[in-house]
Amino acid sequence: MDFLQLAADRYSVRSFSDHPIEPEKMEKILKAGQLAPTAVNFQPQKIYILKSKNAIKKIRSLTRFAYDAPVVLLLCADISRVWKSPVEQGYDTGEMDVSIVCTYMMLEAWELGIGSVWVRGFDTRQVAKAFDLPENIKPICLLPIGYPSETSVPYTKWHNTFRPLNELAEVR
Ligand SMILES: Cc1cc2nc3c(=O)[nH]c(=O)nc-3n(C[C@H](O)[C@H](O)[C@H](O)COP(=O)(O)O)c2cc1C
Repeated sequence: MDFLQLAADRYSVRSFSDHPIEPEKMEKILKAGQLAPTAVNFQPQKIYILKSKNAIKKIRSLTRFAYDAPVVLLLCADISRVWKSPVEQGYDTGEMDVSIVCTYMMLEAWELGIGSVWVRGFDTRQVAKAFDLPENIKPICLLPIGYPSETSVPYTKWHNTFRPLNELAEVR
């Protein structure tokens, strides 16, 4: 599919069907996350595939934004691997690295007919504790994924409402 068409068609899916994601499609989505660029190619992403009954119950109890997705990807940055700025103390690219990984996965999923929604509406400390994450693994975002339900539609208020390009971009 033409990239701009794919980008325009994709919308945040917040209502999912029970149809399971085929293993080969899941593999492709994960592959997209592997191919994403990261700072200095340090590849600090760590992705947990939450799909057991227990894991899904747990994540749904921690955020209402897991919706009814059959699978929730918990995308984290391994802070022992991230690029750290030698000049700006305390700055690292963990969030940026994981964001581009998430973007690639979200777009690959859509290409395969699988919907997703990027989620930051959760408490990272609660999630780290509930899933017993190691100290160096920092949750960045969630990506609930699955086939859209028959009733799934874009939120009209948010989807397809764009600020003009000449406001977003400026030549200097
Ligand atoms: C960084 C980020 C955080 C987001 N967090 C949430 C969230 O917690 N819950 C939710 O339902 N949607 C969340 N979204 C989805 C946005 O609301 C959505 O992408 C935006 O309104 C545009 O709509 P569209 O994706 O349907 O085009 C998030 C998106 C981004 C990029």
